[in-house]
Amino acid sequence: MAITGETVARRLTTVRKLLVLTGAGVSKESGIPTFRGEEGLWRQYRAEELATPQAFARNPKLVWEWYRWRQGIIKNAQPNQAHLAIAQLEIHIQNFLLVTQNVDNIHYRAGSRKLVELHGNIFRAKCNRCDKKYLEPLTGELPECACGGRLRPDVVWFGETLNPDDLDRAFGFARECDMALVIGTSGVVQPAATIPFLAKQTGAWVVEINPTPTALTGSADIVISQPCAEVLPEILSLMQNFSEAADDAQANRD
Ligand code: OAD
Repeated sequence: MAITGETVARRLTTVRKLLVLTGAGVSKESGIPTFRGEEGLWRQYRAEELATPQAFARNPKLVWEWYRWRQGIIKNAQPNQAHLAIAQLEIHIQNFLLVTQNVDNIHYRAGSRKLVELHGNIFRAKCNRCDKKYLEPLTGELPECACGGRLRPDVVWFGETLNPDDLDRAFGFARECDMALVIGTSGVVQPAATIPFLAKQTGAWVVEINPTPTALTGSADIVISQPCAEVLPEILSLMQNFSEAADDAQANRD
């Protein structure tokens, strides 16, 4: 493993408070398309054209069709080595928070529990009149609420505000952490894109794992330009080796 991965693994053995921020790149190796670039297109539409309240008001059937398509892919997908390694980090590092922009719920399926789903969850729906929440599966092309309102996916769309409690928790943790791992996000969607910069401003050590440069790349302390499902298990296993070696050395001194 490259020297950068070793450095990250060593840091993880002494970290006090670890924030992990993830985006669609983490689920890519589970076969779920990311949002930007060629693979972000569904039929001829970009995510920005469908994931809006205006698109839903104009053509709710089309928007539901897109979400049903994504739900189908996600249901058949499995957590990959990156999701599993992140769930393990939570077990090893007591002061930990995972903030994800992903709505696919796969971090949870992989075992993550200290988790903020900033953009919601594709397997929940809510009423656009009374806000009542529903769990999928729902029936019908255009599911309706008991109050007669129209149900929509319980995700945050472009132009909408995030849940203030989730945002406070994520921003608060970013200000206090001493290390942030930023994995598989293009960092173009606000306010999530601010999180690594908040961490950096307050003195955290910021690591980016992404094969493609982003707006964060120039400001990160370490950049690992490799797919996260390859690199994270290696970092985790090095971290465990370093911790065991430190424990053995301590036991010999005692
Ligand atoms: P994007 O699709 O914008 O970016 C995915 C990032 O993952 C890119 O920077 C890729 O280079 C990187 N990537 C691809 N494969 C990778 C791998 N194997 N390992 C590591 N990185 C990899 O997705 P997000 O940044 O998550 O909003 O997009 C942010 C938000 O915009 C999404 O949450 C979504 C979207 O519209 C909602 O659904 C509300």
